[in-house]
Amino acid sequence: MTLLRVENLSKEFGGIHAVSELSFVINPGTIHSIIGPNGAGKTTLFNLITGVYTPSLGAILFDDKSTAGKAPYELAKRGMSRTFQNLQIFFNMTAIENVMVGRHLHLDRRFLPSLLRLPGIAKSDALAREKSAELMRFVGLEAYLDADADAMPYGALKRLEIARALAAEPKLLLLDEPAAGLNATESREIDEVIVKVAQSGVTVVLVEHDMKMVMGISDHILVLDYGKKLAEGTPAEVRNNPAVVAAYLGGAHA
Ligand SMILES: Nc1ncnc2c1ncn2[C@@H]1O[C@H](COP(=O)(O)OP(=O)(O)OP(=O)(O)O)[C@@H](O)[C@H]1O
Ligand SMILES: [Mg+2]
Repeated sequence: MTLLRVENLSKEFGGIHAVSELSFVINPGTIHSIIGPNGAGKTTLFNLITGVYTPSLGAILFDDKSTAGKAPYELAKRGMSRTFQNLQIFFNMTAIENVMVGRHLHLDRRFLPSLLRLPGIAKSDALAREKSAELMRFVGLEAYLDADADAMPYGALKRLEIARALAAEPKLLLLDEPAAGLNATESREIDEVIVKVAQSGVTVVLVEHDMKMVMGISDHILVLDYGKKLAEGTPAEVRNNPAVVAAYLGGAHA
């Protein structure tokens, strides 16, 4: 069975082929990484998969159903959740409120802060709070339950984003550079969180430049270059692929 199927997908921005004739599948229960140099089309691919962008050509099937014409909130309801390359944290809220927002991310972002202040939705929703606290423990943020988001270190905020994405109870979790800007110790902590997420039954799509992370935890790796598939396979296959070594890894990481 296939959870996500991408068929001949292309996205053009005024002459730039950000994603070009790309086909691949993602099987459930795996950690599937997407790597490639800056500008290779990784974030564009996430935006196509999650319904932020409309493909120029091609098709995406999630759970065997086309995503064509579906808005991000509709795909979120069907079980897709993501984090962003640039932090998308509500800094005027506490950490746990940010996670609670994740349950409602299919709603218009502009209304979320006021919505969370309504009695009956946030403050008295003991179940939502308990589930969110559980997710914060899951990502190792138990020390920050009632911390203000704007007082938290960057590394903790990267994990908070993962907890918030999980609050939507996704089948497919797309992580766009979860280790960006983290030191080696913090990156290994993110590794552990991602492996735990996959073990919990959530399929993970990981975009990351940290090759130690990618090679260490991926079941499958797709290599993009100028929007096209350069190679794919297991970490060992990708690491030993001459085209990948020449074009991307440059021999230094192989
Ligand atoms: N909204 C947009 N409008 C115009 N061009 C865009 C847009 N989004 C992306 N691009 C272009 O598409 C190409 C792919 O960009 P994308 O952000 O997907 O790369 P990436 O692989 O995520 O890179 P990075 O590793 O730096 O995050 C780049 O040339 C980029 O400038
Ligand atoms: Mg990107």
